[in-house]
Amino acid sequence: MKTRFLSVLIGLAVMFGSHSAVAQCDPGEEKILFSHVVATKGHPKGQAAAALADRVNLELDGEACMEVYPNAELYSDDATMFEALIQGNLQMAAPSLSKFEDFTKVFRVFDLPFLFEDIHAVERFQQSEVGQGLMLAMRRQGILGLAYWHNGMKQMSATQPLRRPEDASGLRFRVQQSDVLVAQMEALGATGVKMAFRDVHDALRDGQVEGQENTWSNIFTKQFYRHQAGVTETNHGIIDYLVVASRRWWQGLPQGLRNRLGQILLEVTHEHNRFAFEINEFAKLKILENGGVVRRLRQAEREAWLNALRPVWAQFEGDIGARVIQAAERSNSD
Ligand code: LMR
Repeated sequence: MKTRFLSVLIGLAVMFGSHSAVAQCDPGEEKILFSHVVATKGHPKGQAAAALADRVNLELDGEACMEVYPNAELYSDDATMFEALIQGNLQMAAPSLSKFEDFTKVFRVFDLPFLFEDIHAVERFQQSEVGQGLMLAMRRQGILGLAYWHNGMKQMSATQPLRRPEDASGLRFRVQQSDVLVAQMEALGATGVKMAFRDVHDALRDGQVEGQENTWSNIFTKQFYRHQAGVTETNHGIIDYLVVASRRWWQGLPQGLRNRLGQILLEVTHEHNRFAFEINEFAKLKILENGGVVRRLRQAEREAWLNALRPVWAQFEGDIGARVIQAAERSNSD
């Protein structure tokens, strides 16, 4: 087991140093622009997007080409990005499931604190009938979900050590564009400040906010931990993604091309989702190696966080629907 973990880590270390995904598109090729906001290397989404582009550019050469724009170089995951997608100026993106509030409230299920025990439960829920149905929740607004991509569990950090929920009280935490996450911070007596991902590092450095919540891969690749008094391994929520395209663009592709692109996406999704957990564990190790502090919670401390945050569910049950929440809960024990 140990040897296997080591070989995965070595494999990941190699992957951290690979991938470049900007293609030269030839005239006549279907140009697919893919926008995301995270790092290319050392990140589940960054690596999956780069791998997708590599395969598209190789296997669909002459018919289609893909250019990936990471690090919010083209768009932040905001209204402008969605507008570009719907208008046809952008073909694909993979925003976090917390960023679809303007289109559907049902995705709020993914933000409920302490709902999913681990990324395997998230995978089971996404693959269930209910989870697959959610991918189509925005089709009327012209957006199709094509695949779920994993990142991982969220961890919390601040300018002071967080051991018990009271430690967060009075602090400002950066959160994604989600009312659930604002409510979650309120339940701690803290303030949730919605902010674009690309602004988080500087906001932490300059003291506009004292804390944040994110996955190990985001906390490491964007160096958030450098401005925090350690990161607490809360595993209190998830960040996962929906690969999206505009319905008009996707359905307008020639059928053969759409099928092959869909198949490549399916295979890349399968291949890369398997690595998400290890990539995050590797990022946690890198934080420690670079002098960061990681705090583990004792059982009683974890329960105190859970008790403080669990009441948030009731506030959003009406938006999400009890059926969806129950299906998500069931994924923990399936
Ligand atoms: C965030 O805004 O923190 C995340 O959604 C960024 C990402 O894409 O992982």
